[in-house]
Amino acid sequence: MAERLTINYAKKPCYDIVFAQDFQGLEKELEILQISGRRICLFTDSTVEKLYAGEILDLIKDKCLKTAVFSFPAGEQSKTLDTVKEAYSFLIKEGFDRKDLLIALGGGVTGDLTGYTAATYLRGIDFIQIPTTLLAQADSSIGGKTGVDFDGYKNMVGAFYMPKLVYMNVSTLKTLEERQYFSGFAEIMKHGLIRDSIFYVWLLENMYEICEREPAILEEMVIRSSKIKKMIVEKDPMEKGERALLNFGHTIGHALEKAKNFELYHGECIALGCVAAAFISWKHELLTMDEYYEIRDMFVPFQLPISIDHINPEEILELTKSDKKMESGQIKFVLLKKVGKSVLDMTVTDEDILNAIQEIYFSDEDLAE
Ligand code: GLY
Repeated sequence: MAERLTINYAKKPCYDIVFAQDFQGLEKELEILQISGRRICLFTDSTVEKLYAGEILDLIKDKCLKTAVFSFPAGEQSKTLDTVKEAYSFLIKEGFDRKDLLIALGGGVTGDLTGYTAATYLRGIDFIQIPTTLLAQADSSIGGKTGVDFDGYKNMVGAFYMPKLVYMNVSTLKTLEERQYFSGFAEIMKHGLIRDSIFYVWLLENMYEICEREPAILEEMVIRSSKIKKMIVEKDPMEKGERALLNFGHTIGHALEKAKNFELYHGECIALGCVAAAFISWKHELLTMDEYYEIRDMFVPFQLPISIDHINPEEILELTKSDKKMESGQIKFVLLKKVGKSVLDMTVTDEDILNAIQEIYFSDEDLAE
């Protein structure tokens, strides 16, 4: 029997996350959502479409009024208002109305883009998430954040809009390209670091199985990580306070992502951002030096970077200021007090940030030494 986790919103059950090892249970879940008589549009990218769209369509095509597929090129460059506009045109052409349903099948870009289209088309149409990457299963499919990038700035336009269901087929992680898999792992590690030291230790103890993608361990990892995210988003669904802790590593991470023109994967930039934020935590005397180095080095066996070359530290500092995590012109920074305990901090200075960027910067001079 598949495991499930109910996410509450305003103290009432809002949607379930179903954890499974295949797509077979999806049919029953969709019946619960009463899809007969509804049109369903599958949103997916060019890569995931080839892998899973056929199987999903076969499962649902006789159960609903009509199916359609809106597909777009894979990659962050599709996460724009232009793609959303194309989606609106497609839905209008296909006759979708407010009682119909969208399905986001794919990674974080697909989930965020579909969710934002669902939130705004006809002032809101139901959608469900079928995340197929570790990044999307660990993070972006849970909690109702939807949106697109704007002018190269991450997630600048968006809405909080809850899905009706999140269906995680953990076996999709088996076929993920290695870099993509470990990129998602950065968000899992982040959950341990900010909230749950026992989970963090479990990740390290199961390093081999996680790297080998052993199915039972993968499922346990995704479930435990989802429970941490559930705890945080239920308390603060609209990010008025505590939810901002999930942005650990993201201030510098997002700046690196933009500076590198999205050539580095999101999780790779988040790992670097976590190292930089842990460094600041040490300099602010929250972590000890040993704790900082231990946290930094734990990313290495999971094939995540802890240093970066060919950046201009001053440019990265400037880019951190255009990220969304500002309050009255001051960056809301997430720091660590210890593994499993994070805090929001408004005292981090430009000098702190620049020093942290220098810490992760591996320059040509370092190479020459
Ligand atoms: N990805 C961070 C959050 O959901 O708040």
